[in-house]
Amino acid sequence: MGKLDGKVAVVTGASSGIGEATAEALAAEGASVVVAARREDRLADLVQRIEGDGGRVLSVQCDVTDEDQAHDLIKHAEQEFGSVDILINNAGVMLLSKVEKGLSDQWRQMFDVNVLGLLYATDAAVEVMKRQKSGHIVNISSVAGRKVRPTGGVYSGTKFAVNAISEGLRQELLEDNIRITMVEPGAVDTELPDHITDDEALEGMGGLMSIERLQSEDIANAIAYVVTQPERVSVNEILIRPTQQPN
Ligand SMILES: NC(=O)c1ccc[n+]([C@@H]2O[C@H](COP(=O)([O-])OP(=O)(O)OC[C@H]3O[C@@H](n4cnc5c(N)ncnc54)[C@H](OP(=O)(O)O)[C@@H]3O)[C@@H](O)[C@H]2O)c1
Repeated sequence: MGKLDGKVAVVTGASSGIGEATAEALAAEGASVVVAARREDRLADLVQRIEGDGGRVLSVQCDVTDEDQAHDLIKHAEQEFGSVDILINNAGVMLLSKVEKGLSDQWRQMFDVNVLGLLYATDAAVEVMKRQKSGHIVNISSVAGRKVRPTGGVYSGTKFAVNAISEGLRQELLEDNIRITMVEPGAVDTELPDHITDDEALEGMGGLMSIERLQSEDIANAIAYVVTQPERVSVNEILIRPTQQPN
């Protein structure tokens, strides 16, 4: 018996890194998982692995910056599995650069994915969870949601926003028995920095790349912990750094 037998979990950004590991961890606890991202080939590999291990999984191609697609994702999940008990708002991009570089397309992309995408999926999930009178939304923030570094101002801006939205949601939804958790990882070894185009920002990350970073599974384990607590327990915030990360 898994601790999440009978539960339905939707994971955005499940095609790599933390989202992929989280989908596997929740499926291993018995949840039916809906895995979403833009890269269908990567989702297909994940589906094969989860099904190979005896899990129940549905893959939905979804760009969370498109409000209709984000809403359809939640609709699909409910239609296929009958409920939406857990939403992991994990899809994110980190395009570091100093503001003075003026990379406004990248600012927009970060706010569109990290903040608006999270809100679109949340909005649709809350509608279902209010009807159910239960639910759990886990928002993946970052240490950058607490601390700002040069080249990280805009990315931090999105993650500070995630923390503020999470606390607002917690207060708004507690009477509906909907729990909200923000997870704030330090450096995790994923594809996230691969999309940075600014050389100065990449150089600035050198220190964090030379320590032993967390693995995606480390964050997935923390998420599995928070969503398997009794209904009366709401873990609101969880900050996890690699042991050697100073800030
Ligand atoms: N790695 C770290 O050190 C670290 C630290 C703190 C917080 N985080 C946060 O953890 C979360 C996951 O990041 P990761 O480290 O696992 O990086 P990752 O491996 O690059 O994963 C990012 C995921 O987001 C998805 N994504 C990006 N844009 C999307 C869009 N428009 N619509 C739907 N999905 C989209 C990507 O899928 P597709 O490209 O297939 O759409 C991918 O699955 C992010 O929110 C990130 O900010 C990471």
